Amino acid sequence: MRLEKESQSSSYINSDHIKRITEIGVALSAEKNINRLMEMIISEARSFTNADGGTLYIISDDESELLFTIIQNDSINVRMGGTHGRITWPCVKMKNDDGSPNHSNVSSHAAITGQAVNIDDVYSAKGFNFSGTREFDRENGYRSKSMMVVPMRNHENEIIGVLQLINALDPKTGEVISFSRQSQEMTLSLASQAAVALTNNQLIHDLEILLESFIKAIASAVDEKSPYTGGHIRRVAQLTMAVAHKINEVKSGPFADTSFSMDELKELRMAAWLHDIGKITTPEHIVDKAKKLETVYDRINEIKARTEIIKRDYQMKANKEVKSRAQHKINVKSIQKEIKALDEEMRFLEKINTGTEYTDNKDIAKIKKIAKRKWKLNGRIMPLLTKDEILNLSVPFGTLNKKEEKVVTNHAAVTKKMLSQLPFPKKMSRIAAYASAHHEKIDGTGYPSGLKGENISLQARIIAIADIFEAITAKDRPYKKGKSIPEALKSMKDMVKDNYIDANIFELFVKEKVYQNM
Ligand SMILES: [Fe+2]
Ligand SMILES: [Fe+2]
Repeated sequence: MRLEKESQSSSYINSDHIKRITEIGVALSAEKNINRLMEMIISEARSFTNADGGTLYIISDDESELLFTIIQNDSINVRMGGTHGRITWPCVKMKNDDGSPNHSNVSSHAAITGQAVNIDDVYSAKGFNFSGTREFDRENGYRSKSMMVVPMRNHENEIIGVLQLINALDPKTGEVISFSRQSQEMTLSLASQAAVALTNNQLIHDLEILLESFIKAIASAVDEKSPYTGGHIRRVAQLTMAVAHKINEVKSGPFADTSFSMDELKELRMAAWLHDIGKITTPEHIVDKAKKLETVYDRINEIKARTEIIKRDYQMKANKEVKSRAQHKINVKSIQKEIKALDEEMRFLEKINTGTEYTDNKDIAKIKKIAKRKWKLNGRIMPLLTKDEILNLSVPFGTLNKKEEKVVTNHAAVTKKMLSQLPFPKKMSRIAAYASAHHEKIDGTGYPSGLKGENISLQARIIAIADIFEAITAKDRPYKKGKSIPEALKSMKDMVKDNYIDANIFELFVKEKVYQNM
């Protein structure tokens, strides 16, 4: 709502008042929590007007309503809104049913006109409908008398809310008196500072929400690259924060004196959401490589086809033998033996291709022997397996060959590179360092930087444990079966012994059953 700014010059305010207003202004702009800020606005306004009660209304985003945001009243001991929870009272409509401006309610009138209203006794005041006030009084055994309603106008000349103060009290007698002209001027001045502080606070809050939503959208895009690892980042972030909150909770042990502030928790949450952002550059067929022979598709079917060709050629040879030299049954038998051997070799390759079991030197020798079989296509004789197929099938663990492993591990370096370039606010300046160090190991053998011991932050160590636990328990990976929780914890215990992951965090993780938070 945009209105012309009214004159606020006044002879009622002296230098002491200005000093006080300035102090309040500084305090208001220092408060980062919006609920506490709104409570502070009402408390301060009540304090220098000596008002028994006060209400803060905020205009809804569509400017159609005034929302009850904070209600305070000392006599009847009421504290509502802000840190005391949301107020569910019906809102004040800015317009009547016929679309005309609602001037009958004193608060909407102040918001519409931008004018302050100062009333000596609401029960005898003309021009406004105070039925709501009377109802409140009846229900609470209260008597509302003097009232001051002041619009809150921000630096962009927009009315963003209304401050309503009830029953100014005589400091000596405690009797209800009228709000003085001086009180009105002071409140107008405070309302304007409060409006600016609230607008800034809301702006920062909105930008933080935007940043967080943007980060989550990118993280989801990374997760979406693979139908198998979908949800990994979300689960790692969830688990990371469960560990951090547990560290804040514990009163004994190695983390008794460690506590993350609200800003540090926010920074860690963002880092966890961004830890695998570098995977945005990892090709999908490598992220998801389900079988050793997979490139953009699984080449095992090609080998199967070649085997079928060899078998067909053998069969043709056998048929010829039967026709021409029926007496030479021995040859036919040996051909049938070869076909049987081919079937067995194909079954062996199919099993090896899954990458679920360790491939040892004996297996590799067998792969090489099978590779030498010949097959014929358009008169050209070729080995059954290409060099690249032998290399991929000979991968001892999992499905990734050395080159592909490098591409995968490179995601941590990409995470570092990408995040280091972003101008995060000062309180989030370590996001890149925390996020990119989740594959570092305490003994210095991790990547991308080979950080060792104390050089790996506590935050990175937490993300590392969350990441490992999620990865080894995930049931949805194509290249391996998800381990059960006891199996996963056993593997992680070995990683502690090998000095890969943080022993204290792991102990807390197990003792406090933090892993259940996923
Ligand atoms: Fe990672
Ligand atoms: Fe990860």
